[in-house]
Amino acid sequence: MIRFLLDGEVIEAEAGATDTVLDLLRYKLRRTGTKEGCAEGDCGACTVLVGDGEGWRAVNACILFAPMIDGKALKTVESLGGDHPVQREMVARHGSQCGFCTPGFVMSLYARSIGAAGTEGVPVGDVIAGNLCRCTGYGPILDAGEAAGVQGEAGPQDLPPRANPNPATADELADLLMAHPETQIVAGATDVGLWVTKQHRDLGPVVFIGDIADLRGVEESEEALTLGAAVRYSEARAALARLHPDLGELVRRIGGVQVRNSGTIGGNIANGSPIGDMPPALIALGAELTLRHGPARRTIALQDFFLSYGKQDRAPGEFVESIRVPRPEPGTLVRIVKLSKRFDSDISGVCGAFAIHIADGVVQQARIAFGGMAGIPARAPGAEAALTGKPWSAETVEAAAIALAQDYTPLDDLRASADYRRTVAANLLRRIWAEQQEPVSVRHG
Ligand SMILES: Cc1cc2nc3c(=O)[nH]c(=O)nc-3n(C[C@H](O)[C@H](O)[C@H](O)COP(=O)(O)OP(=O)(O)OC[C@H]3O[C@@H](n4cnc5c(N)ncnc54)[C@H](O)[C@@H]3O)c2cc1C
Ligand code: FES
Ligand code: FES
Repeated sequence: MIRFLLDGEVIEAEAGATDTVLDLLRYKLRRTGTKEGCAEGDCGACTVLVGDGEGWRAVNACILFAPMIDGKALKTVESLGGDHPVQREMVARHGSQCGFCTPGFVMSLYARSIGAAGTEGVPVGDVIAGNLCRCTGYGPILDAGEAAGVQGEAGPQDLPPRANPNPATADELADLLMAHPETQIVAGATDVGLWVTKQHRDLGPVVFIGDIADLRGVEESEEALTLGAAVRYSEARAALARLHPDLGELVRRIGGVQVRNSGTIGGNIANGSPIGDMPPALIALGAELTLRHGPARRTIALQDFFLSYGKQDRAPGEFVESIRVPRPEPGTLVRIVKLSKRFDSDISGVCGAFAIHIADGVVQQARIAFGGMAGIPARAPGAEAALTGKPWSAETVEAAAIALAQDYTPLDDLRASADYRRTVAANLLRRIWAEQQEPVSVRHG
């Protein structure tokens, strides 16, 4: 059973560990305003707001498991009552045709209008990047969002107690996983959710770690940024952008607001995908991972965590506790570039990250890492060797670009062919050189 607040009423509902909030709303509570478009977090038709002591955040109900709202509050499109300024503006500006996507857009714009997580100071276009419409065209919807403005609203009050026990601390999680190492860890469920909705997998016993405060810390020091494994993208974005602006921009392009309000940095790493965006960026910056197994902790370089496709250096019952990202040394040229078919809300074809330390015109150290170029996120040893100890010059960069193309056996799939990936990866290094020579004319070209 789970217990949550819906429009001021405490709801108690029977729900299995991997039943989705969308199914709960539509089939049990008959709140059918929330739609199912894709069932994989892409279209935003299922957008709802979840509230807790930290405020409200828009999320995709189709990949949110019901126990993840236990002890929290929920708002659906019905909660707005039909006459909210966002709804009035959508009507006035003809922001809807068939209407299927409309509840999702309304909820995303409503989230912005109350200053919900991940929307503060964010343009309307970014706020609706996780919502798709196949008929209206986005102009009227953008206009409606602008016109509705931002009024702000307090977080939910009088939250009910959880109905289910769940580890409240990292120690409790460590004990549970030692005793039951087969337990499936779920953080934001933006990967795991799809195993259920698309692959119909039975996950067996599940533990939810998204609310464990010990895993949600964001600590900034002069030397490094340390993130708890369950820190969500929207919570980490500002600190990552302070570490380097390209990191902030990278996070902006991970999913839409709904995905960034659920997905975690730890989940992105632990999932071990060869096309996850954070690993190459964090490897290039020299990040370290702290893994926890019962009372024991070990710290490893992030790059060593990825052993081979689908295999990570993580024992049964072990979990990622935190990630430490050192601040780049002065004189380090850092660039992180994500290449995907769409700018917004798309998975990378290639994600390249470069941290090249140059002193007196000579490359002292080069760390280059790529996603999409191998079965795991991986460094480019040939290109790094071709740069290190050499003058930072067009000739050196050309030699390194040629070596870089030899460093990898890229993936060849629907996102990009192996040839394309090899070519653009080498060109990214050339581009970084060119950007330095002509910063204004070629950046973001
Ligand atoms: C629409 C959409 C768009 C997306 N766009 C992008 C994108 O642009 N770039 C990108 O890189 N990814 C993208 N993703 C993938 C996903 O959002 C990320 O990989 C996210 O970081 C996963 O985090 P999570 O908390 O949701 O992980 P979950 O789904 O909860 O878990 C993922 C895996 O990690 C394990 N895990 C989680 N936390 C820990 C831990 N602390 N210790 C050990 N194991 C753990 C889980 O057991 C599971 O195996 C997208 C997903 C969706 C649905
Ligand atoms: S139904 Fe498409 S994001 Fe949920
Ligand atoms: S109005 Fe038809 S999908 Fe948006």
